[in-house]
Amino acid sequence: MQSEIRKKLLDSFTSAGESYLSGQFLAELIGCSRTAVWKHIEELRKEGFELEAVRKKGYRIIKTPEKITADEIRLGLTTEFIGKNIHYEETVESTQKIAHRLASENVPEGTVVIAEEQISGRGRMNRPWHSPKYTGIWMSLILRPNVPLTKAPQLTLLTAVAIVQAIEEVTGLNPEIKWPNDILLNGKKITGILTEMQAEADQIHSIIIGMGLNVNQTKDDFPPELQNIASSLLIEKGDALSRASIIRSIFTHFEKLYLLFLEKGFYPIKLLWEGYAISIGKMLKARTLTGVIEGKALGITDEGVLKIEDASGVIHHVYSADIEL
Ligand code: BTN
Repeated sequence: MQSEIRKKLLDSFTSAGESYLSGQFLAELIGCSRTAVWKHIEELRKEGFELEAVRKKGYRIIKTPEKITADEIRLGLTTEFIGKNIHYEETVESTQKIAHRLASENVPEGTVVIAEEQISGRGRMNRPWHSPKYTGIWMSLILRPNVPLTKAPQLTLLTAVAIVQAIEEVTGLNPEIKWPNDILLNGKKITGILTEMQAEADQIHSIIIGMGLNVNQTKDDFPPELQNIASSLLIEKGDALSRASIIRSIFTHFEKLYLLFLEKGFYPIKLLWEGYAISIGKMLKARTLTGVIEGKALGITDEGVLKIEDASGVIHHVYSADIEL
């Protein structure tokens, strides 16, 4: 019902173009009081519409929210399969959850779930991922690589390279990667990647790569506890950016790297990844599920595993951890 009314309202604003529509006209159109009309107008404002209200004339829309539409992404997309099938939602709990469901329904490889807002976006270690409406890129990509289970974490590193290349291409900024999957600008996190799997024994059914990119948030859009550790492309670049262009660029870089990975393995990806890595050669602290390892990051193995040498010269292989530099 609500959405039917909203649709009617938006349709008449569309036909009215630059003309104003009076409160009385709108009330008759949707069959409710003028107060109810005003409430709908407020709801539209909350969704990001800018409406001008002029006494004795009525309302008109002067700016629409910067929504991403599947068609806008498709326009100019030259990939073969990454992002060819887009599942777009306005508000979801988490795009990961939908992607998991779609993956078990056998959608084509490269299908992507994109949402404008996540109300319970998840990060690594089950942390919440702040995903406010119309500002960032919240998406999950479904893959079905024919590789052993142990290779799955390499796709996280590959994704980080694809995202860095896309940010470089679209913004001219030079992000860095903190092992394994944080992308930073001026030391602040702008992107997180969450790789999950559907598998049995030694067979991968699908890999779901969740990507969260802070694009057009201002500092005030971040909760206080994140303001010193997280940033957005808008804050770092000083300009708002087209989320659709960034998404297209990620798809294009991802597809090239993924095909290279399937053909030649992880080694060429490793070389690219090392070019962007900030942790290598530095002293760091790795918080793993079983304890803390402190030492110098020697690099990553050909499999993508982080090597840390502690004070006594012992080399630890770290598969999953939070890194403090
Ligand atoms: C991290 O750095 O902890 C990973 C964050 C991953 C966030 C993305 S946003 C899209 C997808 N859906 C989720 O709920 N999480 C991932």
